[in-house]
Amino acid sequence: MTVPELTATYRNAYSRINAMVIVGEGLADRHFRLLADALPDDRQELERLAAMEGRHARDFVGCGRNLGIRPDLPLARRLFAPLHGLFRQAIHAGDLVSALVIQCLIIESFAVAAYRCYLPVADAEAVPITQAVLGDEEEHLDYGERWLAAWYPEVAAPITTCCERAVPVAMAMLHSLGDDLRAIGIDPTELVVEFVGRFQDALASIGFEPRQARGLVARLAGRVAGVQPANEPVGVV
Ligand SMILES: [Fe+2]
Ligand SMILES: [Fe+2]
Repeated sequence: MTVPELTATYRNAYSRINAMVIVGEGLADRHFRLLADALPDDRQELERLAAMEGRHARDFVGCGRNLGIRPDLPLARRLFAPLHGLFRQAIHAGDLVSALVIQCLIIESFAVAAYRCYLPVADAEAVPITQAVLGDEEEHLDYGERWLAAWYPEVAAPITTCCERAVPVAMAMLHSLGDDLRAIGIDPTELVVEFVGRFQDALASIGFEPRQARGLVARLAGRVAGVQPANEPVGVV
């Protein structure tokens, strides 16, 4: 894959993808601060992870500015609202398992998948930034994996329930960005494949049987919130 030219189509698409990245990183900062309040024993570590996310947001603002592109932040906030809403609901209900699944497993697996796919088509300025961010996101996944693994198997059912709700919401977000991803050189299908792989590994490291993890993620990755799957009758989903 080669780095695409900075055509008007590329710049338009980049303004939306760059905004998603900036808003996603900013929300990750807020989510880790909310987790720090909810898990006082881990406050220091979680505030450190939050600060990393804040830096990521600033670094990607710089990437857009470097290309002379203004990110479409209102659109990105709108697209992220359902997933952010699920996270806030979980925090307010004291449901730490769901909060950790949404931020540390789902959002971080998506971040890792998106940055892995972006790396081969990124401009020269964005390459080292993306590489450094990728390492950080792995650390964030690792926090969630360790916390949830310590409570396995008690958390197996709540993790599954949360995934059933939140993964289709994340897939819907991705679905609405398909054309923009293609325009900047990313194959959305490849992104889903990367997400599925990283998410399965996360579930397996928590304690799920690899076969069980594969089955759950493969089933949910095919579902997009708001879109009725062709092979499932109304009322089942
Ligand atoms: Fe990040
Ligand atoms: Fe992260």
